[in-house]
Amino acid sequence: LKKLFSHIPIIDMAATGKAVAKIDGQVIFVENAIPGDVVDISVYKRKKNFMEGKAVQYHERSKALVDPTCNYFGMCGGCKWQNIEYQEQLKYKEKQVVENLTRIGKVNISDIQPIVPSPDKYKYRNKLEFTFSNKRWLTWDEIEQGNEKFQNGVGFHMPGQFDKVLDIGECHLQADPSNAIRNFVREYAFKNDYTFYDIRRHNGLLRNLIIRNTTTGDLMVILQVAENDEEKIQNILKAIVEEFPEITSCFYIVNEKMNDSFGDLEPIHFSGKLYITEVMKKPEGDGSVSFRIGPKSFFQTNSNQAQTLYKISYDFAQIKKDELVYDLYTGTGTIANYIAASAKRVIGIEYVEASVEDARENAKLNNYDNLEFFSGDMKDLLTQQFFSIHGKPDVVITDPPRAGMHEDVCKRLLEAEPSRIVYVSCNPATQARDIEWLSSKYKVSNVQPVDMFPHTPHVENVVLLTRIV
Ligand SMILES: C[S@@+](CC[C@H](N)C(=O)[O-])C[C@H]1O[C@@H](n2cnc3c(N)ncnc32)[C@H](O)[C@@H]1O
Repeated sequence: LKKLFSHIPIIDMAATGKAVAKIDGQVIFVENAIPGDVVDISVYKRKKNFMEGKAVQYHERSKALVDPTCNYFGMCGGCKWQNIEYQEQLKYKEKQVVENLTRIGKVNISDIQPIVPSPDKYKYRNKLEFTFSNKRWLTWDEIEQGNEKFQNGVGFHMPGQFDKVLDIGECHLQADPSNAIRNFVREYAFKNDYTFYDIRRHNGLLRNLIIRNTTTGDLMVILQVAENDEEKIQNILKAIVEEFPEITSCFYIVNEKMNDSFGDLEPIHFSGKLYITEVMKKPEGDGSVSFRIGPKSFFQTNSNQAQTLYKISYDFAQIKKDELVYDLYTGTGTIANYIAASAKRVIGIEYVEASVEDARENAKLNNYDNLEFFSGDMKDLLTQQFFSIHGKPDVVITDPPRAGMHEDVCKRLLEAEPSRIVYVSCNPATQARDIEWLSSKYKVSNVQPVDMFPHTPHVENVVLLTRIV
């Protein structure tokens, strides 16, 4: 039986993005509410230490409540904080950083800088992936109006419904012509009887559509299909690039596997350039740094804020001309390339071999010969032997995945004793844990959170650690 609690004030926002209330000291995560609301909560899950529920009646609404921009708010899994005023979103992101650093990292923070807001609140993403489905999500209205026979759609996965896709007319996350391309592809497919993928039966032609853009105006389209129907593939791609001459690069991928991932498949070039190019202003002096982005290359998804993030990391690092810098978890070597002109030498380490190849290409593109890249698992590569062959770093910049650094990696850093470690993180909890591990030799000298993803609970945080012993 569902339990109802009435007149409960919402007091916080959790890192998962859900609102938080407390009942008799017990935490309850609440859907459809924001801090400042006073609501009745219907509880649907009870665990030992917390409960989960949904706001079903509002007695007071928060002053921070705003109208969401997007029509799909509440259905789509993205941009869940859209109904919270932006300044308030920033407050909760900053709080996430402070709480993790103090509780888990045991850091006594006096030096936290106010979070850097994203200049673009919408259209900040340089990459979106849309999924085709022959079972789109239908609203009650559509079912009542008898629209349920039009089941093909292209958009985003419905949260919690693995076989349903929310058909999207307008998404506010990527600049034009992202919406126009997706909508054109849908129309073309309807008119020409193309089949949409069936995730249960594993048939249907159109599987997904990836659109990537750069601040330089490059535009890449990658169409993933599940059947090798050469004529249909050529026809639709031809129609797309004719309709959108601004597309600078077009690929397709024939993926007949059961899953959508194409890391192990070769994208086939259809037209235009083989890669698109992103450019960032050098952190010092004139000129710019370029990055080559192929259909499979990783690149930070908010290009403008990535530049801000790198500039902060660069400023924290205070690299001198005679210093050796390690860029750990370098991805496609973006940070390494960004800082290269200021260092004597930069070593980048990264797990994914294809990313390391991109990193080397980026170094060539920028005419740097003081960069070296190695691929492998950080905990196996970063050894005493590695340090004795390549030299101990004076400065380390590290940007690990959400899981943070392996404990062995922290140990190796304690042995290598760089004078400064700049720790860039997309997960303040694991960052705080790692800082605690490093605290025997390092103190936190500066903290700078950055908002890369407005309307989501995500926060990026840069910490400067300086050696104390
Ligand atoms: C947050 S990304 C950093 C990307 C890069 N610094 C940038 O700004 O573009 C983390 C990177 O760590 C890599 N990675 C994850 N686990 C790893 C491991 N155990 N050893 C080495 N690299 C790893 C991932 O492949 C990914 O490229």
